[in-house]
Order: sequence, then C-alpha cells, then structure tokens
Amino acid sequence: MARPILIAPSILSADFADLGTDVEAMMAAGADWVHIDVMDGHFVPNISFGAPIIKSLRPRVKALFDTHLMISPVDPYLKDFAEAGSDLISAHVEAGPHIHRTLQAIRALGKKSGVVICPGTPASAIAPVIDMVDLVLVMSVNPGFGGQSFIPSALNLLRDCRAIIGDRNIDLEIDGGVTPANAADIAAAGANVLVAGSAAFKGGRTAYAANVGAIRQAAEAGCSRG
Ligand code: DX5
Ligand code: ZN
Repeated sequence: MARPILIAPSILSADFADLGTDVEAMMAAGADWVHIDVMDGHFVPNISFGAPIIKSLRPRVKALFDTHLMISPVDPYLKDFAEAGSDLISAHVEAGPHIHRTLQAIRALGKKSGVVICPGTPASAIAPVIDMVDLVLVMSVNPGFGGQSFIPSALNLLRDCRAIIGDRNIDLEIDGGVTPANAADIAAAGANVLVAGSAAFKGGRTAYAANVGAIRQAAEAGCSRG
C-alpha cells in the first residue's frame, strides 16, 4: 500500500520574530511535520540558525521535528541537535567522507536518521547506507536558499531512489521549489513527504490551510498515477 502523503513546511520561510506562533498556526492549518533547515555558511552559501532555536520551539509543537543539516562537519553537532528536540536528523552524503559513521551516530542518539542527496549526486550514493535510514531526502534545488525553482531532473532521482528503497519501511522526501503545480509529478515519481517553504507560508496565516491543502490534494492525485 502507498505511504500516506505528508506535508512538511520549512520554517526557513516562517516569521522568525514570532516563530512559535507561526509554526503553531501552520500545524493547526493541517501540516504534518516541521522541516527545520540548518545552514552553516560553509557547506551551503547561507546561514540560518542552530540548535537553540529548535530547543525553544520544541515545547510549542508536538509534530515530528525533521531536522535537515546543511552543515560540514556534521558529527560534532549531532548531539546538540538531538538534545534540542529533533526527532529525525538528516545529513548530506556530500557533507563529508563518512556518511556511514554519521548515520550510525544519529541512530546511537536514539533518533530517526535520514540521508540527503543534492540534485547533482547520483541516486546510487544512497545504496550503501539504505539499511541505516528511516528517510531518504532528495534535493530539488541546490541547497542554501528558499524560494528557488524546482529542478526537473530531481524527478529522475526520486524514481531511482524509490527503486533502491524497494519495500523497505523508508520515507522518500523532496525538498526545494515544491508547489501545487509540481506536487502531482513529485508524488507520481515516488515521494511521500513534501517539504514546502515559500509555497506553504505565502500569503500569511490565513492562507496556510489553503496552501497546505493545495499541495496535499495535488500530491494525492499524483499518487494514484504513480
Ligand atoms: C533549501 C532548503 C529547503 C527550502 C525550501 O536549502 O533545504 O527546505 O528552504 O524552500 P522552498 O519551498 O521555498 O524552495
Ligand atoms: Zn530542507
């Protein structure tokens, strides 16, 4: 049976001055997970925020905290992100020479683990670690900024990753440039978790339910032709 479609708004597009209230509003509007983009200005050309923000947000929101680490090195900071309240921690294969060790460390901290690939990395990069993860994340933009356009070749990566995952109990997530217009193709290619930053938060709080609903509806329609 197909895995349910989950919508994971990226708080990169939230109101940082009123983050708790904004994320509460987003979850009340029907979102499933909270996608948390951590950027270091080194692995990616932008800086976002670190573990203290996650720790402050944690008591305000029950939903799964999906922490996407765009940092290098990764391993020295895993404990901080685990203790701050992440439920799932994802690391890039491109972030260093030891993704296997990183995924071992995430699981040793008692957290779900995710492996991430950029648009220019072959899907085969996830194969050696596939039995060490709960989630595979395919980037559909070059990581570093919200509001970029979806890179269509990511659909091929999704199909290839879905084939590698097979019937394992692993979620397949897409991140970057997701909108109601491309969500059907994304779901048809095999993704079941859709991250959305600008498309989820656009138009202010009164628009969140419609934004999330439009992405979900399109993805569910795409699922049936996947
Ligand atoms: C990109 C981040 C994404 C991004 C999503 O580096 O990992 O999560 O902020 O934002 P949109 O949906 O605006 O592309
Ligand atoms: Zn992300």
